[in-house]
Amino acid sequence: MIKLITILTSNVKRINVFSQAKYSTTFLPQFSSEKYDVKRKKFGVLNSTDVDYFKSVLSEDRVLTEESDVLPFNIDWIKNCRGQSQLVLKPKTTEEVSQILSYCNEKHLAICPQGGNTGLVGGSVPVFDEIVLNFGLMNNIISLDDISGALVCEAGCVLENLDNYVRDHNLIMPLDLGAKGSCQIGGNVSTNAGGLRLLRYGNLHGSVLGLEAVKADGTVVNCLRTLKKDNTGYHLKHLFIGSEGTLGVVTKVAIHCPVLPKSVSLGYFGVESFENVLKLYQNAKSSLGEILSAFEMADNDSISATLDSFKLANPIAEYPFYVLLETHGSNEAHDNEKLSRFLTQGMERGLILDGTVTSELTKMKNIWHIRESIAGAGLAGGYVFKYDVSLPLSRYYALVHTLRERFSHPARVYGYGHVGDGNIHINVIVPEYSKEITAKLEPFIFEEVAKVGGSISAEHGIGFRKPQFIHYSKDKTALNLMKDLKKSMDPNGILNPYKVLPDVVT
Ligand code: FAD
Ligand code: MLT
Ligand code: ZN
Repeated sequence: MIKLITILTSNVKRINVFSQAKYSTTFLPQFSSEKYDVKRKKFGVLNSTDVDYFKSVLSEDRVLTEESDVLPFNIDWIKNCRGQSQLVLKPKTTEEVSQILSYCNEKHLAICPQGGNTGLVGGSVPVFDEIVLNFGLMNNIISLDDISGALVCEAGCVLENLDNYVRDHNLIMPLDLGAKGSCQIGGNVSTNAGGLRLLRYGNLHGSVLGLEAVKADGTVVNCLRTLKKDNTGYHLKHLFIGSEGTLGVVTKVAIHCPVLPKSVSLGYFGVESFENVLKLYQNAKSSLGEILSAFEMADNDSISATLDSFKLANPIAEYPFYVLLETHGSNEAHDNEKLSRFLTQGMERGLILDGTVTSELTKMKNIWHIRESIAGAGLAGGYVFKYDVSLPLSRYYALVHTLRERFSHPARVYGYGHVGDGNIHINVIVPEYSKEITAKLEPFIFEEVAKVGGSISAEHGIGFRKPQFIHYSKDKTALNLMKDLKKSMDPNGILNPYKVLPDVVT
């Protein structure tokens, strides 16, 4: 019989993984250019006339030049990368963005677009002295159509704020991720972020109805439609979704918001083996059908490290694997009936060893909080190599075993992710960064992924950390077409240089 364990909420402290880090010099990451041996490209060098120009376009307080003010914008969330920018610009309008880009294009000044700076592949921070174009002040909601669910807003709106807003209108945002308190919709669109409910609500290529973007030369491209159907020529919005700020900057987004589910339940289960996790997933799909909204898994190492790092309590006992399953439905009685059939079968077949199921908001939040905190586990005590790959489900967890064999002590290898999307995250945590460990991991991991037809980046993107490996997942002809597009849309290459595209296509 499944034990419905009461979660001791008082033991589950909510930590804020985004609390502004105090950057003392002892903890500053090495410069990316030195760490990864990158040569600066021939861009213009910023001078005081440029800064004066930007001050004339923006008010002075939106032009940051003090080293201590600029520092946080140079360092990524996972502290793998550090740039050397001397200037952060904070536009408030599309017209300001357009003026900035047009000027930078003329002077060949490189730009690094930045949203909430929660990206995990070094795409959101400069490598050398690129100017940081930060969207935090472009945070207005423009319109919401309660009937169609079309939300139109500026790129700098924080995902969680948007979700809170649309919930008051009986809607939800079609994506949710652990970084929701900081990441911005423009960043989400630019990375084609996946998240926890992609299984149910699909990816942003489906939900984004339209957008406004500014090209490198300052031209404003208006594709800000809210229509569900619009087959008038090329679907240009898709060029900006997932291109990580290399083809243009996103200034406004129109997005479809699904209806707020009337009944929500969350299950957290202990499972004996990964094989059983897959069997449970298959059962969940057939028993729960359209109400299944998330199916996530984490191995014991991921969960134990998270509980230890953030002093959280596990709602159930220790098991080799954990599954987090969520349902979004419209009829509580109907959903409960389905869930109860699924649970009975799962327990009878020995797939669920223990677990807790709840519809209480606080308890659900606390369970989600454990899952969402895995990203930050180990960050304080070591250096995290983060991998985010798509694999056929039959090979989903095998790579974790392979890596554990290859890296015994002192590395710790955690496997967790979005089973429903075939996307596993593998964190390899070592006491400190070294080139030797990097060489042992890369390209080994990418070769293993390519062997089974996987993708080296399922949802985080290519950013700065992976252009040299993109060929493991993209064919030469596709890479050449990507280069042609880049040349046509950003001929001077000022938008997010050193990111996404490899220098040489092999
Ligand atoms: P940033 O990190 O600032 O930028 C990301 C990229 O987009 C950069 O290349 C940047 O140049 C570009 N960019 C940002 N804004 C714009 C713009 N307006 N126009 C053009 N380019 C722009 N990702 C997932 O996919 N799924 C997850 O489940 C997930 N969970 C996460 C959990 C945690 C705790 C953390 C820290 C990160 C997680 N991420 C996840 C990664 C990250 O949050 C997402 O990639 C997110 O979409 C980035 O948004 P951002 O606003 O922080 O963008
Ligand atoms: C997640 O699913 O938690 C995120 O993609 C972040 C991570 O990889 O840790
Ligand atoms: Zn993820």
